Amino acid sequence: PYMFYEQLRSTHPVTWNNTFRYPGWYVTGYEEAKIILKDARFKNRIPLPQSSKKYERLKNVQNDMMLFQNNMNHQRLRGIVSKVFTPKAAASCRPLIQETAADLLNQVKQQKHMDIISDFAFPLPSLVIANILGVPTEDRSLFKEWTKPLIESIDFTRSKNVLTNGNETTKHVLDYFQDMIQHRKRRPKDDLISMLINEEQDGEKLTDNELLATCILLMAAGHETTVNLISNTILCFLQHPFQRTKLMENPALLETAVEESLRLESPTQMIARVASEDIEISGSHIQSGEHVYILLGAVNRDPRVFENPDAFDITRHPNPHLAFGYGSHFCLGAPLARLEAQIAVKSLLATFPDLRLETENVRWRKLAGFRSLQDLPVIWN
Ligand code: HEM
Repeated sequence: PYMFYEQLRSTHPVTWNNTFRYPGWYVTGYEEAKIILKDARFKNRIPLPQSSKKYERLKNVQNDMMLFQNNMNHQRLRGIVSKVFTPKAAASCRPLIQETAADLLNQVKQQKHMDIISDFAFPLPSLVIANILGVPTEDRSLFKEWTKPLIESIDFTRSKNVLTNGNETTKHVLDYFQDMIQHRKRRPKDDLISMLINEEQDGEKLTDNELLATCILLMAAGHETTVNLISNTILCFLQHPFQRTKLMENPALLETAVEESLRLESPTQMIARVASEDIEISGSHIQSGEHVYILLGAVNRDPRVFENPDAFDITRHPNPHLAFGYGSHFCLGAPLARLEAQIAVKSLLATFPDLRLETENVRWRKLAGFRSLQDLPVIWN
């Protein structure tokens, strides 16, 4: 997509297009993206079509997700959830992530090949978030399949797909969490759901539907994006052996390496807003009701901000990428995602020092909203 982003940017960093599937303003400029994401007159919205009756239940749940809220209601919801889902809570997951990664790698160690996605990058964040939420071990295998249609329902580029394929699965997930919330209300445990139930702000607790929406959001937002971050980072290293050697020589570069992968192959490629009034950005006249698509993958390669923007340079510093968004909706899971990716990459490269791509021919899924590999077959001796 990156050449295409370049073309768009060369027209204008905020350019109108009505020939794409989603007519609207396409933002490829870094500073412009920041201005828009800081401006409360650009609102978040639900991606599912407003007219669809069949998906009313999912829409009702999405309606209460903080991701699609604005202003006071967003502040209230995010305020409560961020009291529980803190950076410190994420940091305390380190042993859990390390163990889960080691278990997954142990299962494939005796082989000579694996698919990084299905054997490692996909199950890891799914097991971690299931554990954090408090899903019992015996139910966790169900989760792997459950998160897919959910994330697709959040990614507006795929919402048509979930309408045809994901409905049954979505119903199971909603039922499952609804039951679990009722269960924890009667008998709290030491898990995130129980904490969310009890947390309050100004004397107000989350409603049952808000609790459900938060569980689903954490699962969906926290899964596929992290799968992509892990697999994209590993791909970057396998394609850039010199950078890999650099990391092996200086393991302290792990953190900046993950930041560089977030910038170069941003797992979330696009986020959307709707203008609530007429607004001018960099000479572009956006009118009330028009849609604005911020191409994070393009913004993070804006040559006005990032020198040599197409290079993978694990020592890049500073690296003020917008892969987790910016402003009031900045990703709440960023500390967890960073930690998962750092541990995943470290464990994998340490376990298989001679890890190589099975084929140079990497296959990307055809999604506009995500930078997502179809598979990532690798071999070792
Ligand atoms: C919001 C990216 C992992 C939970 C966002 C946004 C982005 C993003 C770009 C802003 C959306 C917008 O402004 O429209 C990512 C990436 C991840 C990741 C690239 C992994 C590499 C996670 C994880 C969790 C999570 C692990 C939780 C378990 C959330 C939540 C929001 C959010 C709750 C909504 C925040 C709000 O609306 O105030 N994420 N995310 N994310 N993310 Fe993430």
